[in-house]
Amino acid sequence: MINKSRKGMNLPKSVKIFDTTLRDGEQTPSVALTVGEKVTIARQLDKLGVDIIEAGFPISSKGEKKAVSKIAEEGLTSKVCGLSRVLTNDIDACLDCDVDMVHTFVSTSDIQLEHTLKKSKEEVLQMAVNAVSYIKDHGVECLFSAMDATRTDVDYLIKIYKAVEEAGADIINIPDTVGVMIPPAMRLLTSEVYNAVKIPIDVHCHNDFGLAVANSLAAVEAGASEVQCTINGLGERAGNADLEEIVMSLTSIYGVKTNIKTQYLFETSKLVERLTGVKMPPNFPIVGENAFSHESGIHTHGVISKAETFEPGLMTPEMVGHKRRIVSGKHAGTHGVLAMLEEMGVKVNEEMLREITMRVKDLGDKGKRVTDADLKAIAEAVMGEVEKEKKIVDLKELAVMTGNMVLPTASVKLRFKDKELVGADIGVGPVDAALNAVRRVVKGVEDIKLTEYNLEAITGGSDALAEVLVKLEDSKGNVVTGRAAREDIVMASVEAMISGINRIFLLREK
Ligand code: KIV
Ligand code: ZN
Repeated sequence: MINKSRKGMNLPKSVKIFDTTLRDGEQTPSVALTVGEKVTIARQLDKLGVDIIEAGFPISSKGEKKAVSKIAEEGLTSKVCGLSRVLTNDIDACLDCDVDMVHTFVSTSDIQLEHTLKKSKEEVLQMAVNAVSYIKDHGVECLFSAMDATRTDVDYLIKIYKAVEEAGADIINIPDTVGVMIPPAMRLLTSEVYNAVKIPIDVHCHNDFGLAVANSLAAVEAGASEVQCTINGLGERAGNADLEEIVMSLTSIYGVKTNIKTQYLFETSKLVERLTGVKMPPNFPIVGENAFSHESGIHTHGVISKAETFEPGLMTPEMVGHKRRIVSGKHAGTHGVLAMLEEMGVKVNEEMLREITMRVKDLGDKGKRVTDADLKAIAEAVMGEVEKEKKIVDLKELAVMTGNMVLPTASVKLRFKDKELVGADIGVGPVDAALNAVRRVVKGVEDIKLTEYNLEAITGGSDALAEVLVKLEDSKGNVVTGRAAREDIVMASVEAMISGINRIFLLREK
């Protein structure tokens, strides 16, 4: 079907990637990068193979000008570009930074001419022509953008593009500044511009309706040979077209070449995430944590025997520098659990595997994501290593006092290997006091933190069976869960904690 649809397209053989992470991307609310951070990202973009790095808007601040200069000084393979309005001072600021290219822009839509620029169409056209001539007179490449092109009268838009082409612009850009296009409209507009000018066409789409990538690709289908995009889709408001999605769609689906070394996409995304502080949702395509993770039994079974069964195939995790992960949770199946256990070097028989899978699903039903350490602990418990006689810690005695006259207090006696340990503590309630007492007693051996506590009544009534699930962490960062079910909430809590403590000690003994 894709091949059939290709017939009506005017696809270029290759597409240049114009990265604007350091300019439009830095306009993401709350993002502000230091000069050093911008240089670090520019080096990574160069390693990734982007054709052009828009390093910043030099007139906007001293720091910005310094960052653009520093990036231009780096001697990168990528061309370095600075942004300017169609004003001589702005262009001079870019030229001072010794950039390879100046990206000059001016509003062209009626709404922006009337409310922001307050200039006539003729004045704007003249300013654009003057700016382009001035840039070309200084011997650098010139990219011209008609800001808000997609809300501009098409005849006027074409008139201004033809005028800047005549003035020497090397390439023109069609910005969908407020992200209002849909793919068929972007295709139509791009073809009209394509038929009117001879110089290459670039696109810059914003993601207000989540269509930035689709609209950019539609422009490529109509002949655009350069796409402006950002790492992690950063940018004003809802951001710009995402570079990773554009590049992988072009490479894997359209069969159009780019110069991007796709194996560096994941590490580039992670670097930008860390330096900008903008966290990526796990379900983000290509570079999100879950992009190649499989949990459901049906999917993991398929992926383990042949990855393409539940992955696109045209794009593998290796191609983008990511990893395939099998995770366990309520949708886990025996194949996925077995694969994870094998990776940990744990050997189980069929009966054990069924029991382990059941317990993993059980935890998943409680909304828990089963960590590797949990899975190992579950497997060990099932394999009989947490049998009564093998318990490292065991509860011997527990006494709790509570009421309106005393602070809830608990005393506890534990067997630790062949010693008996005794201690007491207080808490905000009887459960808190009991758990504090257990932790205090064990603290002589290991400081164990309680990071999560979950209580659920399985049956109704005041004699309900209470199921307690705790998450514990030891000083080495091992995270395990412990669980127990009893009608007595205090006892269930203490037993859950002791089962978790046993798991930690067993893990550590290994
Ligand atoms: O969104 C936009 O129109 C821009 C221009 C400067 C190209 O960022
Ligand atoms: Zn923009």
